[in-house]
Amino acid sequence: MSTSSNPTPSPDTAREGYDRDRQVRVAVLGVGMMGQDHARRLATLTVGAELVAVSDVDVARTDAVAAEFGVRAIHDPKAAIADPEVDALVIATPGFTHEELVLLALEAGKPVLCEKPLTTSPETSRRIVEKEAELGRPLVQVGFMRRFDTGYQQLRSLIESGEYGAPLFLHCAHRNATTPPNFSSEQLMLDSVVHEVDSVRFLTGEEIVAVRVIAPRSTTAAPEGLLDPQFVIMETESGVLVDVEIFVNTTFGYEVRTELVAEKGQARIGLHEGIVTQSAAGWGGSITKDFKERFGAAYDLEFQRWIDAVRAGTNVDGPGVWDGYAAAAVCAAGVESLKTGQRVEVDLGARP
Ligand SMILES: NC(=O)c1ccc[n+]([C@@H]2O[C@H](COP(=O)([O-])OP(=O)(O)OC[C@H]3O[C@@H](n4cnc5c(N)ncnc54)[C@H](O)[C@@H]3O)[C@@H](O)[C@H]2O)c1
Repeated sequence: MSTSSNPTPSPDTAREGYDRDRQVRVAVLGVGMMGQDHARRLATLTVGAELVAVSDVDVARTDAVAAEFGVRAIHDPKAAIADPEVDALVIATPGFTHEELVLLALEAGKPVLCEKPLTTSPETSRRIVEKEAELGRPLVQVGFMRRFDTGYQQLRSLIESGEYGAPLFLHCAHRNATTPPNFSSEQLMLDSVVHEVDSVRFLTGEEIVAVRVIAPRSTTAAPEGLLDPQFVIMETESGVLVDVEIFVNTTFGYEVRTELVAEKGQARIGLHEGIVTQSAAGWGGSITKDFKERFGAAYDLEFQRWIDAVRAGTNVDGPGVWDGYAAAAVCAAGVESLKTGQRVEVDLGARP
């Protein structure tokens, strides 16, 4: 089963029907950490996009970011969605607000790039899948940016080529230096492993059918009560076994790696980012600080491809609402498994 209507973004098809004169006027909703980064990207880098407005419930923050980029401050995000001078929206508000804002954008018929997660539960994500299906055309892209990272694209192509035979295992590690205050044990799945969930679906082209989460002893660096690290085991529909070490208080850096074990070969991505040195002082490399550094180029490409798709009238060139829904369903199963210690099956139901 294909896991996406458009799993392998293609620059050539995205450029078909391109309207060179059309600038897409974009408003960014939520200008915290990610929203400010995306506003800068749209204002300075993305060809064919014009950042026209920012909107955040934090009025002072909206005004400050609007002034920084010389764009309109719209204090009510719903007014920004309805604004006739806004063609498309980036949603970078917290996950619990996404359902309402995405549904409003769908009602307004405006293309959206919604940061992950699409929503915080499978039920609410499913509502968006159904709403978009009713409209009969894709409008919502979900911010799973790893699909635009060169390493992930190369690994997917390798699996797809069949050169190494069928994939058997994917061994993944996802490590962060520290967590924000009040980060909960469930958030390891919902905020971090959600990226592995989408990556596995992207790499294998298969749905994930079962999840089990095991919590070993916690690191002393984790805040009191936080189960960190955790070990997540996922099964795909053809029986590929995936393990994810999720460890979010390593104290020193950011690392995301994946190893494929297939019938006739193995491949690894994410082991050494940036420069690797060798001298009398020894052999070594640099440590990536955070995800913005590790995936900076992927975010840039994600935004360019999205704007290209909006200009071409196809609106989505990457993960869509079904991908967001599937990720939400797998993560909900993971949270249940963390609580019960049991293997939990995932049933996505029929795709509209
Ligand atoms: N793709 C990635 O790698 C990645 C990385 C980090 C965060 N994210 C996602 O990006 C989103 C934002 O995360 P963040 O870390 O920037 O959060 P943040 O807390 O730094 O910023 C969120 C902003 O949204 C504003 N806000 C809250 N409710 C709002 C509403 N109803 N309308 C308008 N604005 C509202 C807040 O005032 C704040 O300024 C989340 O969905 C998060 O999961 C994605």
